[in-house]
Amino acid sequence: MKFFIDTANVEDIKKANDMGVISGVTTNPSLIAKEGRDFNEVIKEIASIVDGPISGEVKATTTDAKGMIEEGREIAKIHPNMVVKIPMTSEGLKAIKALTAEGIKTNCTLIFTANQALLAAEAGATYVSPFLGRLDDINTPGIDLIRQISEIFAIYDYKTQIIAASVRNPIHVTDCALAGADIATVPYKVIDQMTKHPLTDQGIEKFQKDYIAVFGE
Ligand code: E4P
Repeated sequence: MKFFIDTANVEDIKKANDMGVISGVTTNPSLIAKEGRDFNEVIKEIASIVDGPISGEVKATTTDAKGMIEEGREIAKIHPNMVVKIPMTSEGLKAIKALTAEGIKTNCTLIFTANQALLAAEAGATYVSPFLGRLDDINTPGIDLIRQISEIFAIYDYKTQIIAASVRNPIHVTDCALAGADIATVPYKVIDQMTKHPLTDQGIEKFQKDYIAVFGE
């Protein structure tokens, strides 16, 4: 399973990129708004850091296919690694179909059912983003959705890749890997949590103590 980082914060992106663990970036309108920066400016900066797919979403206020297609074309022009993120609606599907025909990569976002993922794959989406954490938030096991989509895509040999999104903790990551997600997009905080184990810290401390006792600093 590959990792994307789910943020528009360039400092977090740099830290994760330096660790060599991320191969792409996903953003959404809330993440862009959180940074309070111009969309094109922040996306260009991200593209100068990470050499991999970067999802940039159409404006949250653009809901018609025509508008999404126009914006999608502009997003695709920012950098060759751009992926246009489009919400799962019937208008969104039309936009995915049109952009795919033009050779523009798309990420169908806000997927909460296997049927939505199936439709996005049929429309030609490069990626689908099922939201794990938001399902868990409403007492519905999000991991079941990742498992279902993985199984269906394998049966029909869809090339559409599954980006497990709304990943909130390290257990989600392990579960996504077991469920067959191609990619998990995770905030920096979760990447940092994944590096940690108390026995690793204790082990480092003991190695240092034993070494210093014999050889000094
Ligand atoms: C997906 O691409 C979204 O940006 C993101 O994963 C949503 O996560 P949240 O539910 O924690 O906001």
